[in-house]
Amino acid sequence: MMKTKLISHLSACLIIALLNFSLISGTCLGNVTRGNDETNEILTPAPKPEPRLNGPLVYGCRPGHPFLYRIPCQGDRPVQFKIKGLPKELQVDQATGIISGIAPKKGEYEISITAKNSEGKDTRKLKIIAGDRLALTPPMGWNHWYAHYDRITDRMMRQAADVMISSGMAEVGYQYVNIDDCWMNAQKNNDELRVGPLRDDKGNIVPNKHFPDMKGLTEYIHGKGLKAGIYTSPGPRTCGGFAGAWQHEEQDARQFAEWGFDFLKYDWCSYGELAGEKVTLEGYQKPYKKMGTILKSMDRDIVFNLCQYGMGDVWKWGGDVDAHCWRTGGDLGFELDRIFDVALKNAEIGQYNKPGEWNDPDYIQIGWIGNANKMGIPELTPMPPSMQYAYMSLWCLLASPLIYSGDMSKLDDFTINVLCNPEVIEVDQDPLGKCGRVLNINKDCFLMIKDLADGSKAVGLFNRGKNPLEVSAGWNQLNISGKHSVRDLWRQIDLGTSEDKFSAIVPAQGVVMVRIINSIK
Ligand code: GLA
Repeated sequence: MMKTKLISHLSACLIIALLNFSLISGTCLGNVTRGNDETNEILTPAPKPEPRLNGPLVYGCRPGHPFLYRIPCQGDRPVQFKIKGLPKELQVDQATGIISGIAPKKGEYEISITAKNSEGKDTRKLKIIAGDRLALTPPMGWNHWYAHYDRITDRMMRQAADVMISSGMAEVGYQYVNIDDCWMNAQKNNDELRVGPLRDDKGNIVPNKHFPDMKGLTEYIHGKGLKAGIYTSPGPRTCGGFAGAWQHEEQDARQFAEWGFDFLKYDWCSYGELAGEKVTLEGYQKPYKKMGTILKSMDRDIVFNLCQYGMGDVWKWGGDVDAHCWRTGGDLGFELDRIFDVALKNAEIGQYNKPGEWNDPDYIQIGWIGNANKMGIPELTPMPPSMQYAYMSLWCLLASPLIYSGDMSKLDDFTINVLCNPEVIEVDQDPLGKCGRVLNINKDCFLMIKDLADGSKAVGLFNRGKNPLEVSAGWNQLNISGKHSVRDLWRQIDLGTSEDKFSAIVPAQGVVMVRIINSIK
């Protein structure tokens, strides 16, 4: 233990030296901090051997429904989990940290989780809120679309669940393993195994031959303490030309619940043909209202994800149709060179973000992803590393759902480092659920400032330009005054204190992301 501490101390000193500080931690910030450059530099420190509990501080569930929650915790295994104040309807498996049972009656239950291993222990509170609302923090997980398109199989879904555990993603809060389009049958498809009867003689939807056992699949995912998501369209066909839910909405929703799904993405697609050319606001809402009401009547908690590309200003009414998150635009896969623009557009409608109701700018596409224009097989993203840090930082400052959509079988260390920094993710999962506000500095640079529940602020200093630039965040711009300490969230190091501002050299197309904490408190 001594040895590890010494090494981590030494590496922290080295990082500080590299950042060109003349001051040691704890004193005033005098110099300009330098952000990551365009190398493949891994900024997220490796998890320590002692337990570190992560995950949201609030969790919503509906009374009487099945409850499943895997405690996100880093650290060497075996870890022993103990919980104080757990409602009697729930149990925790002390070895895996999986809490299961039946959600308790309406109320708030503050539990205290302790994780202990041979190296140390950690304790963290979690408030379970049994009531009407789900997704009190943005959903986190994986979706198959941008990696596997119409090639997805049951085996790949199971593998994604395996990797969510083995890669450490579940230890920082990722939990949904979601199938997108192409699990059903189509009338025509290049893949014979995806062609067949759309429904059986009772009208039940028939999965294609790549999905021989839907219940078995969700059981497999649930067995790891993770959750399972599914996809359909209110139209007769999905966007990929597979069977949709039209005229079978309730029957399909019941089937999804029976199979054990916990999340539904409901994609407009061919519904457009039914809605006609000039769609009224009511017309946009109609199919979603219908499904929202159906899902609410199920005896399972099913997170409802609207996908209709932002039509009719969905952010203004998504919550009214019982949705938990809604896509705010078209497919991000087609505009990965515009992530800054997309993020800024989402910030403009940030006031509609709140616990249980989230704007969704689409998935995180880094690592090995398939080109959306040709539904290509996964290739390593050409996105510069600094921009990948900016992408993840933007999504967290926006309080967006964090759904990774690259190839889980090819997760590399750099991608894991971008996806799995618990201090960065904590910003996304903050219980206030606020979206960051934007302050433009000049044509290339802007700040994104997010108020956090503990009174601190997360600030992203962004540079969209082609060269590194110095960016400052003045306390007056952040509406704060007096002595504040600054923590670099990607590197997880304290940078010192300041009474008036924080400045950093921000890499081209990159970010420096900090948390600014009042040091007088
Ligand atoms: C639409 C959606 C995507 C994906 C595909 C599947 O394009 O926006 O996210 O679900 O359909 O066909």
